[in-house]
Amino acid sequence: MTEAAGQFITPVTMQALSQRPVYGSQWDARADNNMLHINLSREADACLIAPASADFMAKLAQGRADDLLSLLCLARPRQTVPLLLAPAMNREMWSHPATQRNMAQLRADGATVLGVGQGDQACGETGDGRMLEPQELLDDLVAFFQPKSLMGQQVLITAGPTYEAIDPVRGITNLSSGKMGFAIARAAREAGAEVTLVAGPVSLATPRGVRRVDVRSARDMQAAVAQQVDAATVFIACAAVADWRPAVAADQKIKKDGSGQAPELDFVENPDILAAVAQSARALSRALYCVGFAAESQDLLANAQAKRTRKGVPLLVGNIGPATFGQDDNALLLVDEAGALELPHNSKLALARQLIANIARRIRAGGQNDGH
Ligand code: C5P
Repeated sequence: MTEAAGQFITPVTMQALSQRPVYGSQWDARADNNMLHINLSREADACLIAPASADFMAKLAQGRADDLLSLLCLARPRQTVPLLLAPAMNREMWSHPATQRNMAQLRADGATVLGVGQGDQACGETGDGRMLEPQELLDDLVAFFQPKSLMGQQVLITAGPTYEAIDPVRGITNLSSGKMGFAIARAAREAGAEVTLVAGPVSLATPRGVRRVDVRSARDMQAAVAQQVDAATVFIACAAVADWRPAVAADQKIKKDGSGQAPELDFVENPDILAAVAQSARALSRALYCVGFAAESQDLLANAQAKRTRKGVPLLVGNIGPATFGQDDNALLLVDEAGALELPHNSKLALARQLIANIARRIRAGGQNDGH
């Protein structure tokens, strides 16, 4: 902690909450070699300064070292101990050219300056400069350590179910929490891609740095995908799209008429978003790597292989639907022209990272979007 940090929260509170020793001075007698700046920086995986004040960043930009924290930042082995900064300050201080100049210098020196939040500030003003929330900082730190295998790629992902209205209060939908698709969006972003997530009705938080487009019906999803797909280099269709929709959605609630007869509903088939995207990319010889999903209840391998050919995609990912709906874990079967690869039972996020690494390898190897 710097001296200024001690004005906000005491070292005792910090120690009690973190259950870790807290250091503030390079002359701390707990170090038996008087070399705290070396001891602390040698055993770290990363230095994350949160919050990083305008003053502290100015100091770092100049390479000054007059307190323990700046001293250990300067003394750290730069090749193995990355420095991340989470700025926090008043909006005027944040936008000041001096602060922006210092941040540019820090980036040029190899530091990673994380973003800032927007909203109410401690001083009562509103704007840019809030420290990111702790969970956001943790997500950014975790993402920092992921391999950047999809750098430069534009990934478009569909996720969640679709909802097909029968009338204003009823509809049909599929069982899908969206968790697998959201995990894939997060993993793709962590891998350095620009990610757009087209999401059906789900109640999940948008992963950090992911652009999200919310839709309801299959046709909404198709329209959103059509708008985004031209910019994409990878398309991952993870959504559980309703196969059919009521032929007409009634404007008003369909009433029970007391006859004991259920209303007759006619259904029409929804457009197959994935098959259409894959087909159009092939027709235009576009470099768009398409990946489909199959939620099956049995015969995963045979069903996934058949679906891969039917959809005309190079890679199809099978999972046993009822075993994974709404859960935080899953198991995947990656099916391509040559055969199948099992990704055994794991958290959806771990599987999403493995899948993204696998897709990145295929793209690097020059995988064509040819499912046939
Ligand atoms: O045919 P089925 O629904 O089993 O195919 C599943 C795969 O196709 C998933 O990747 C799903 O997102 C995609 N799909 C689609 N549009 C549909 C139906 C399925 O994009 N109408």
